[in-house]
Amino acid sequence: MTESQLARLNRAHASIAERAGAPVEIAVMLGSGLGHLADAVEDATVIPYGEIEGFPVSTAPSHKGQFVIGTLYGRRVAMMQGRLHLYEGWTPQDIALAVYLLKRLGSETFIVTNAAGGLNPDYDAGDVMLIEDHLNFTGQNPLIGPNDEEIGLRFPDMSRAYDPDLLKQTGQAAERAGEAVRRGIYIGITGPSLETSAERRHLRASGGDAVGMSTVTEVIAAVHTGLRVIGLSAITNAATGGPDQQPDTVEDVLAHAAICGEKIEAILKELLPDLPVGER
Ligand code: HPA
Repeated sequence: MTESQLARLNRAHASIAERAGAPVEIAVMLGSGLGHLADAVEDATVIPYGEIEGFPVSTAPSHKGQFVIGTLYGRRVAMMQGRLHLYEGWTPQDIALAVYLLKRLGSETFIVTNAAGGLNPDYDAGDVMLIEDHLNFTGQNPLIGPNDEEIGLRFPDMSRAYDPDLLKQTGQAAERAGEAVRRGIYIGITGPSLETSAERRHLRASGGDAVGMSTVTEVIAAVHTGLRVIGLSAITNAATGGPDQQPDTVEDVLAHAAICGEKIEAILKELLPDLPVGER
């Protein structure tokens, strides 16, 4: 029999618990091109994924593959610098493990960031979108298989997956930071091929404002394990699939992710000191 998710989590946690130190309050998942946000962490303890027992090791370009634990804007945080993607061949359960580990490190709030294409024709590359909700179009779910009640419920409620109060707080933080933000629906696909133009028009018609190759798997795991979720998308390219649709390049995506990264950093600087602690 394969190792249960709970046994795997216990083993991974035991291998780093001592190094990780005092409990963290907030977990942050850094998306493509946003990894430099971890540079602002003070008194950082860096734990490469390869040093965590049973942990998957990331291969995506611009993804480092390490936990960065320390103080950010006065709060104790654990950041994942280098996420795991389905397109790399990781299973949804591998991806969920990382989220469960962040919870084990003490966090109550999970801030997830990503790079995404703008399906909404009003969006421009360089915009930041606060995620209101998502559509899981990966065809996969990290909770398929036996459920560990110690981690979460068999049928977790997803009706408010992105915490409405924290969404409001994030909007207010953006306002204080002087950053205009969008609010919309994120659609998660597996990639790694980008969508065809017909697919993009279909995704837009399905109710999406942005599309990307991550996040939905992590957010399902986060809600499962009782984390409060905040989602921020860096809109890195127009993905309307309309007549003026331009070809996408990784360089362009990363260039716009860097612009969005500065905006997200400014928002987090306002948001983190205000986030609630110890309410669960
Ligand atoms: N599609 C999917 N994922 C993405 C995109 C996109 O257009 N841009 C950045 N990540």
